Amino acid sequence: MTITPGIKTVIPAAGLGTRFLPATKAMPKEMLPVVDKPAIQYVVEEAVAAGSDDVLVIVGRNKNALANHFDRVAELEHTLEKKGDAAKLEKVMAASRLADVHFVRQGDPLGLGHAVLRAKKHVGNETFAVLLGDDLIDARDPLLTRMIDVSRAQSATVIALMEVEPDQIHLYGCAAVDETPESDVVKVKYLVEKPSASDAPSNLAVIGRYVLKPEIFEVLEQTQPGKGGEIQLTDALEALAADESLAGPVLGVIFRGRRYDTGDRLDYIKSNVLLALDREDLGPALESWLKELTGRLSA
Ligand code: G1P
Repeated sequence: MTITPGIKTVIPAAGLGTRFLPATKAMPKEMLPVVDKPAIQYVVEEAVAAGSDDVLVIVGRNKNALANHFDRVAELEHTLEKKGDAAKLEKVMAASRLADVHFVRQGDPLGLGHAVLRAKKHVGNETFAVLLGDDLIDARDPLLTRMIDVSRAQSATVIALMEVEPDQIHLYGCAAVDETPESDVVKVKYLVEKPSASDAPSNLAVIGRYVLKPEIFEVLEQTQPGKGGEIQLTDALEALAADESLAGPVLGVIFRGRRYDTGDRLDYIKSNVLLALDREDLGPALESWLKELTGRLSA
């Protein structure tokens, strides 16, 4: 695994989280716990594992919970220290030690493309990563590291793609692609944001991982509102794919690993169960309860 030092990561977290109301009335959906960690902490851990040490979170009106989570909390640390509870102290301190975490407000919620554009000043003239909190990628399947390697090797913009059932494609950006000599890499011919199943050019969905070149900012500045009246990142990527002279090719890395979708309630519940099953402290007890429950439900 190549560790790429210093790449900056941008995490848009300014959505209204309406699918999780009322839980998200006073708290961003990225703070919802998955087992016992807020979703955004998994995402920051993924960025750090891929060699990123600088994270910019694009926040909305409920910034405080996010900022506090990645900050020190002296009183709690002190109490746990006095109790000699090293394990809990470690859990509290882990998030504040992970990376340099910065925050910028999105202001008007004008779409994912607009959120990413808010990172322009912080990112500067460098290739950077964008990670969306609705998708959690299993730490054992290092997708982002692979994407950064492909981007470096081919001086390309790289998006993550995953095969989905045709009846799911309307929830995602969708890519028309050509094969390349590498079995997990495709060349993106064009992109469509959330097409109907009948209009979709493939069953390859854009999942929430992007390695972008700084040229994307100029394109985003020109991008008109698209689907849903929002400035879509997919539309800016489509402009790059249509004209390679702007910033080189747009490539896709096909992800075949474990992904946990936390974007809607049912998938969120499933993700909690799957991730808890993998945990040493919870897995065995949860598994035997699930077996008993399955027996009861099928009786
Ligand atoms: C966004 C993007 C979409 C992408 C998806 C991945 O949509 O616009 O292209 O497929 O993230 O999660 P959202 O889910 O924010 O509506």
